[in-house]
Amino acid sequence: MASNLRALEEDEDTKSLSESITDYPVTWGRRYHKYKEGSYLFPNDTMECDRLDLQYQALKMLHDDQIYFAPLKDPKRILDIGTGTGIWPIEMAALFPNARITGTDLSPIQPSLVPPRVSFEVHDCTETDWCRPLASLDYIHVAIMLGSLPSYSKLIKNARRYLKPGEGWLECHEMMPDICCDDDTVPPSWPFRAWHSYLEESITKMESPKPLRVADKLATWMREAGYVDIHERIDRIPLNSWPKHPSLKNIGRLWEANWLDGLAAFSYKLFGPEGLGWTQNEIEVFLIDVRKCIKDRNVHAYQKMYVVYGRRPSEEEEKAMMKKPSKPAMAKGGASSAKAKPKGYK
Ligand SMILES: C[S@@+](CC[C@H](N)C(=O)[O-])C[C@H]1O[C@@H](n2cnc3c(N)ncnc32)[C@H](O)[C@@H]1O
Repeated sequence: MASNLRALEEDEDTKSLSESITDYPVTWGRRYHKYKEGSYLFPNDTMECDRLDLQYQALKMLHDDQIYFAPLKDPKRILDIGTGTGIWPIEMAALFPNARITGTDLSPIQPSLVPPRVSFEVHDCTETDWCRPLASLDYIHVAIMLGSLPSYSKLIKNARRYLKPGEGWLECHEMMPDICCDDDTVPPSWPFRAWHSYLEESITKMESPKPLRVADKLATWMREAGYVDIHERIDRIPLNSWPKHPSLKNIGRLWEANWLDGLAAFSYKLFGPEGLGWTQNEIEVFLIDVRKCIKDRNVHAYQKMYVVYGRRPSEEEEKAMMKKPSKPAMAKGGASSAKAKPKGYK
């Protein structure tokens, strides 16, 4: 179902449909989405929306204020899948005055006062029908959907059908959850690593597992789905303000706040009755030590943030690729890695 929530609210006949989207369930004080209830494991309440905006700012700083990387010219139709608070479409509208930008999400948590060329729809992106003409989009953007999708590769394949042949780009921004460290300052049994293992264990055991470790596979999935000009960029984001470099220190400060604000939200469903079966009290006690790890500046931990984008080839390019099936077309430098910029990583 694709529905413009504002339109729904204005139409009496569809009032009950609107309520079926906004009659949010609450568990352990956190509010969750109603549409396709239970399919997304994390809350949609004000606290989570504030965290999403904080996360967005941290990643924007990491990317030197760049909010897209594909070589867009004058895009007319843009889609943001799993848009969250809608901050990205609103900022993109200011950058591209001829673009109509639609953000889709399970939750209608976006503002109602938005620029005229921006709109939001309640829609489940795991459905094959994206309720718009095939081959109509210049650009599709997906960010931070790890742990949300049963099959990210299916989404990549489906996105291709909606992109304009020859000129439409798909761009994915995802984080690898793994905690990295280059100087052995992570202690051997570190509660934050244990937290990640529990999370992974729980999500893997779920009836419909939604993998967390997707970022490093995006380029491969794009290649397999027949995209060309694939670029992969990897940046390292410090867990807290441990780096000496002032801008990384600031980014780390935001990333620490993001983790501390989100930790309970990330844990409740996966560690609780629907996951590992812990009580809320057991979870909160465990999180005390995890929070200490996140704040510890003696541990020089970081995570890898991936940006991967690729283009749907034209029919002629596809024909040429069919004739010559050896190596799929890749951008110079290769899925095409613009490796992590080592800006003062000390
Ligand atoms: C971690 S948030 C990221 C939001 C936004 N992309 C950002 O970077 O700030 C993931 C979002 O994806 C949405 N989502 C999860 N599963 C979805 C699905 N199957 N279809 C559409 N949206 C979904 C969630 O409701 C949530 O708003």
